[in-house]
Order: sequence, then structure tokens, then C-alpha cells
Amino acid sequence: MNYQEALNKLKQYGDQEHVLKYFDQLSETQQADLLAQIEATDFSPLLLAKDRENQVKKGVITPLAAMQLSQIDAEREQFEKIGLDAIRAGKVGAVLLAGGMGTRLGSDAPKGMYNIGETKDVFIFQRIIENLQDVVRAAQTPVHLFVMTSDKNNDVTIAFFKEKNYFGYDPAYVHFFIQEMAPASDYEGRVYMEEPWKIATSPNGNGGWYGSMARCGMLDIVEQAGIEWLNVFAVDNVLQRIADPVFVGATIARDCVVGSKVVKKAAPDEKVGVMCLEDGRPSIVEYYELTDELMEAKDENGDPAYNFGVILNYLFREDKLREIMNKNMPLHIVEKKIPHIDENGEHVEPKSPNGFKYETLVLDMIHLMDSCLPFEVVREREFAPIKNKTGVDSVESAKELCKKNGIVL
Ligand code: UTP
Repeated sequence: MNYQEALNKLKQYGDQEHVLKYFDQLSETQQADLLAQIEATDFSPLLLAKDRENQVKKGVITPLAAMQLSQIDAEREQFEKIGLDAIRAGKVGAVLLAGGMGTRLGSDAPKGMYNIGETKDVFIFQRIIENLQDVVRAAQTPVHLFVMTSDKNNDVTIAFFKEKNYFGYDPAYVHFFIQEMAPASDYEGRVYMEEPWKIATSPNGNGGWYGSMARCGMLDIVEQAGIEWLNVFAVDNVLQRIADPVFVGATIARDCVVGSKVVKKAAPDEKVGVMCLEDGRPSIVEYYELTDELMEAKDENGDPAYNFGVILNYLFREDKLREIMNKNMPLHIVEKKIPHIDENGEHVEPKSPNGFKYETLVLDMIHLMDSCLPFEVVREREFAPIKNKTGVDSVESAKELCKKNGIVL
């Protein structure tokens, strides 16, 4: 792309011509880098900044019953057998979402490198590998683990796994891939510049994971290995059970194309997305979209009808992912602190949010699927997310839960 083509492209997306403001002062390499970035960047999300309130409109919400603990217990053996058979046949792969910025935790390193140990090292990545090893041992079969990183944390993540010898996991079964970035902008949708030759970007959310796997050649591995199910999960839950045979078996037995691990809500207004039907299709309604009426609705047993929150652990049938890969996903526009250069070329490190990042979310993939099994798990045993340093969903609360589960820190 040459200068004129770059300018023409920028003109299509509102007030973006400042991206080329310093072009004449850049070295040849910097000029080439900037032109390449302009060529590669999808600026279309920026056009939505001014219409943020009207972005994601929900359809008609109705309840979707979860498979609850008592039902699971009644069929546990059968589910476990079906799940283990699938894992032994190499049909289940795991996808670790580790491309996030972990801003709330406030560490510069990738979140998975955070050490929650007290008497010894216990890194978040290590906890995940240890949990996956339980399944590998039970099935006597290695499970392919795909790790999504971002441009910002890929090299350091890979170096960390190497330094720690993959925490005892077989490196031949660990595959790293990089997610895409999206431009970050001010509140008017004007893209920020990180350097005179570099547009400010942010990882484009966890909804693009499958598309990024495709782009990075991961689907060749999926195909060669005969993987039929992908269990995608968040890095920050240190009690996360991965490729859980009972969960896999239940999803297969109920003939669903997605399984979603859920926990009973701790309170009606807890800040988690809950499973539901939206216009008759599986979906997730966010806590801020839950009206009083929905919060108070009851099922036939008199229990709250929207009572099961998602924990970012989904099992997708892989052929269905291929079908939805090119479908449009809703864009979530989120406030963020964006370091940038100001109009005088000075670097600014904002102390409070100064613009938007643009993301798609994995939970929106559920609505593109025909069927989903919400599968209840015991919160205290499987859900210890680390979002913050202290308080709710924090290092502190996760450590407590680890100890309660007999994990030595
Ligand atoms: P969060 O929504 O908690 O975001 O991610 P985050 O970036 O980790 O943390 P904050 O909001 O900046 O504090 C949920 C999961 O999705 C992954 C994260 O790594 C985490 O496992 N994720 C998020 C990605 O892989 N890519 C993204 O672009 C965003």
C-alpha cells in the first residue's frame, strides 16, 4: 500500500487522517511499518464509537434449563465413560484463552505468569496444566492444548513455558497462536497513535479465537489429530477443570453442539452472564441486561429461572465452529486507558479511561449455535477467577479456594 492508498483508506473511516501526520518525518522502515499496519487494520469498528449505546440489542429472553448437580450425579458414570472414550480417541482438544491484557490485576506480565504460591511457586499457567494432567492421566492419552496469546504477550508467554519445561506437559501437544489486534480510539472514534509510526491497538477480544486458530494454521493440527470437540476456557480460573470427561460425556449424550459450564448464582444480582434462550436460541444475558422481571422469574420448581452463571468454559463441536466462522459477531465497545502520543508528539500514560477498545466475545458464539447444554458445576470446586488483586474474584479469594480444595500454595 502506498501513501495515497493509505490516505484513501483512512478517509473512509471518519476523522483518521492524523494517522499520517508525521509520515514525512519517519525513516523509510517506519514509513513501511505504518503503511503495512494501515493496510492490515480493520478500521470499521471505529465508525460505531458514536453509536455505542445502540450496539448489542437483545431479542426475547426465555429460560433455558440447566443440567443440575443431582441429574449429573445420577448419570455420572455413563457420562464419564462417554467422555473418556472421546478423549482416548483423540477427539477432544483444549483452547486456553490467554490473549487478554489483565488490566484489573495490574501486572505487566501475562496473567498466566502470576504466582499465587506462598511456600513455593504456583503460577496460574501451572495450575491449568496440573488440572489438565489429571485428565491426561485418567484417559492415558495426551490432550492437544492450543494457547491463544496476543502480539503483546506472545514471546514472553512462550519463553515462560519453555523455561518451566511446560510444567511437565508434552511440548508436542502445546500449540501457541496469536490473536488479532483492533485499533483503539478516543470517544469520538478517532484512532490513537502509540508512536508516530504506530497505531495504538488492543487485543480484539476473546470472540475471535477460532478465526485466529484458522488464520494461524491450527486447524490443520485439529484435522490431522481428528479433534471433534474444542474446550475453550479462560486463563484466570485457577480451579478450571479442562476436558472434564463428565462434561464432555454429558454434552455428547444430550446431543448438544455446545456445552457450557455454569454455577448457581451466589445472589440474584451477581455480576455474571446467565444462560437463557434468546428468540428461541441458546444465549447469554449479561447481568446489566437482566431486568427486575427476569431476575424475579421462577421456573416450574419455584427456583429462579435465570439462576446459572457462565464461567467461560465451553465445549464446542468443531464442525459447527467451521460453519459460523465467517458470521458477524456483535462488537462490544469498552472504555479503556489507552497510552498514546498527543498532538505535540508527547507520550501520555492516562490514569483514567480515555477511549474505547473494540472486542468480540466468545459468549456471543453461543447464540450462533443450535443447541447448548448448561452443565452445573460446584462453584467452590471449579470457579476461582483471578480478575483483581484484592476483594471479589481476586488473588486473595482464589488462594482461599485453592486451599479449600487441598492445593498446596
Ligand atoms: P477478561 O474479560 O477478564 O479480560 O478475559 P482480561 O484482558 O484478561 O482482563 P482485564 O479485563 O483487562 O482486567 C477473559 C478471558 O479471555 C481472555 C483472557 O486472557 C481471559 O482468559 N482474552 C480476553 C483473550 O484471550 N483475548 C482478549 O482480547 C481478551
